[in-house]
Amino acid sequence: MTQSLNVAVTQKRVARTGAIVIYVAEGGGPSGAAETIWSRTGLDFKRTAEATGFEGKPGHMIDLVTPAGLDCDRLVVLGRGKDEDMNASTVWSDRGGSLLAKLDSLGVSEAAVLIDEPGQTADGIAELLAGVRLRQYGFDRYKSAAKANGKPQTLTVTVHVADDSGIEAAMTRRMAAVEGTLLARTLVNEPPNVLGPVECAAIASSLSDHGVEVEVLTPAEMEKLGMEALLAVAQGSERPARLVVMQWKGGAKGAAPLAFVGKGVIFDTGGISIKPAVPMYDMKGDMGGAAAVIGLMKTLALRSAGVNAVGVIGLVENMPDGKAYRPGDIVTAMNGKTIEIISTDAEGRLVLADALWYTQERFKPAAIIDLATLTGAVVVALAHDFAAVFSNDDALADNLMDAGSASGEKCWRMPMAPAYAKLIESRFADLKNSGGRPGGSITAAQFLANFVGEVPWAHIDIAGTAFGAPNSETNTSWGTGYGVALLDRLVRDCYEG
Ligand code: BES
Ligand code: MN
Ligand code: ZN
Repeated sequence: MTQSLNVAVTQKRVARTGAIVIYVAEGGGPSGAAETIWSRTGLDFKRTAEATGFEGKPGHMIDLVTPAGLDCDRLVVLGRGKDEDMNASTVWSDRGGSLLAKLDSLGVSEAAVLIDEPGQTADGIAELLAGVRLRQYGFDRYKSAAKANGKPQTLTVTVHVADDSGIEAAMTRRMAAVEGTLLARTLVNEPPNVLGPVECAAIASSLSDHGVEVEVLTPAEMEKLGMEALLAVAQGSERPARLVVMQWKGGAKGAAPLAFVGKGVIFDTGGISIKPAVPMYDMKGDMGGAAAVIGLMKTLALRSAGVNAVGVIGLVENMPDGKAYRPGDIVTAMNGKTIEIISTDAEGRLVLADALWYTQERFKPAAIIDLATLTGAVVVALAHDFAAVFSNDDALADNLMDAGSASGEKCWRMPMAPAYAKLIESRFADLKNSGGRPGGSITAAQFLANFVGEVPWAHIDIAGTAFGAPNSETNTSWGTGYGVALLDRLVRDCYEG
């Protein structure tokens, strides 16, 4: 069962409720509004803290059931750590995530949370509620026995603050990004038999409900455009490829859009250069870039972002078959460059080659950012914490780093240089699609550079961050939705208003 969630912020005093939640800083006692509540219990805080081992660290909890003097089933005291930590980027969302986990473990259905502390901002409160929702997300659609397990059907979390000015706007903005992130997670989590290129394109098309203009190109249309690289990848699959173009026009009329391009390999077997059986099943997440672009376009629409944005995703399935493309094949990309196929498992860059060129030719964007679960090498380099950024533009790269720290979706810039481009020179064609193991993520980026012109461009390799990351305070699902919050933040900080 999926539990529904209501969140709200109010300036009103706490009325009768299931649980009251107050926070106490590390080494301190209840202060401000929390102090008023605690004093009604008639208990000595120091004694209670000592008896329960509560020191105010994040994760610490005192749970008083049917406390005297209060009209609630329980008073929950949570540690909030040291005040000096409050400015770190993800402190508030992590706090929201851990709050949800505590309420969940206690089986609470209605909680009034008091927040009254230094460093508190409208954005912080919105971030806290985002954390609650992000942590609450679970993907149990295919669990026939998924039962309530004593969980209440609905959870209502009301945050009580002394001053709620600015909170509504902050909430609308942040929750729009949460919706986008959750959609991206679901798309990554969905099994590849259910979510094929056509099905994924249909979900992207449904963004038209939110004012996004969507076009879906078929293989015949792509063939006319000369997208031989993208179509080569798809040719071993029973399921036809799709190229989806999503446009959000929230900025000045005629202003050059920002473009986002996503790798949407619905399933990557490796093709004829087939992957080992373990962990091939993870390759259902090889459309994580496309998922993030869909999620981002939804977010921009939900919060009526003041920007023109284009999202383009190449949706294909990479299968071994009698009709499949082979190592040794030479294909011509839309921009006329010829590519020798060394490995049919280096397919993402072929999809992106045509999607990137198409995007820059048609839209003349102010900047292009692509997201792709492109290389295993980036997982070796950065594991699941940072995504790798490659760029031909220092300002764009710096802006991405900043948006990464601010959103908690961290990234790290990697080098590009002619020496790496040399590694993908082909004996027979203009380029080859694999430079082998050394610098595997970098040679992949160098390959992509051939399909963007002079436009500021950044490539984000999300192979380590899109799925399979260790559980965090704000995500316990396999798909992470990585990229939506990062790029929403970038748009907000650098391209709006
Ligand atoms: N989709 C994979 C990359 C990947 C690996 C994503 C692990 C997430 C987790 C990509 O298509 C691929 O197979 N890349 C090859 C490239 C190589 C053949 C040059 C790789 O990284 O091994
Ligand atoms: Mn591959
Ligand atoms: Zn792939």
